[in-house]
Amino acid sequence: MRLYSLYKKAINLLRLLFVKFRWYSHLTFPWRRCWNIRIGRRFEIKQFPPPLGHLKVILGANITIEKDVWLKGSSLLSIGSNTFICRRTVIGCNERISIGHDCLLAENVRIQDTDHQFESRNIPIRQQGIATAPIKIGNDVWIGYGAVITKGVKIGDGCVIGANSVVTHDIPPYSVAVGVPARVIKQRGDVL
Ligand SMILES: CC(C)(COP(=O)(O)OP(=O)(O)OC[C@H]1O[C@@H](n2cnc3c(N)ncnc32)[C@H](O)[C@@H]1OP(=O)(O)O)[C@@H](O)C(=O)NCCC(=O)NCCS
Repeated sequence: MRLYSLYKKAINLLRLLFVKFRWYSHLTFPWRRCWNIRIGRRFEIKQFPPPLGHLKVILGANITIEKDVWLKGSSLLSIGSNTFICRRTVIGCNERISIGHDCLLAENVRIQDTDHQFESRNIPIRQQGIATAPIKIGNDVWIGYGAVITKGVKIGDGCVIGANSVVTHDIPPYSVAVGVPARVIKQRGDVL
């Protein structure tokens, strides 16, 4: 059993080193505690082309990122310690996205701080540029399966976001929010 866990740790470390080697200038993590960072297969960092900026991803300690997670864009994305990101989650970052510590992101979550502009009918949408606004997700937030977080949203500490919700407005701390668009249905239990 101990041998198996050593083997798993070694595989994790090798994968992390490979990931670091592949995206050297994009990815930062605490080397001293890198034993506890787990990154799944087919993890991708996708840098958007110039004139957009440089995508920088800062990971805390003890993070798990399951397979098929994509981080893409052209600016700064930070993910706090002890956060767990389930498979097929996509985070697109062209201004600033910060995810706190101890968060749990279920499968197929989409966090995107960018929209395409579409004011003009005469120019194809893909040529009209983008609009961005930063996203901040607090500590100890659980985001359910398939939820979408749109640009400019702040989710307070301790929130729960229901499965398949679309969060378009700020959610105050310790709220449970569900639906499209996500509305607060209750507060989590009080601490006495
Ligand atoms: C958000 C959630 C945690 C709420 O659970 P809960 O506190 O037990 O809430 P309830 O089941 O009592 O639901 C309260 C109300 O919200 C509604 N609701 C709950 N989840 C909803 C959702 N995801 N979307 C829309 N409405 C939802 C319920 O229908 C209910 O409405 P009603 O009062 O009109 O009947 C849960 O519904 C959920 O979405 N969990 C995510 C599951 C998941 O993604 N797991 C992945 C594992 S990491």
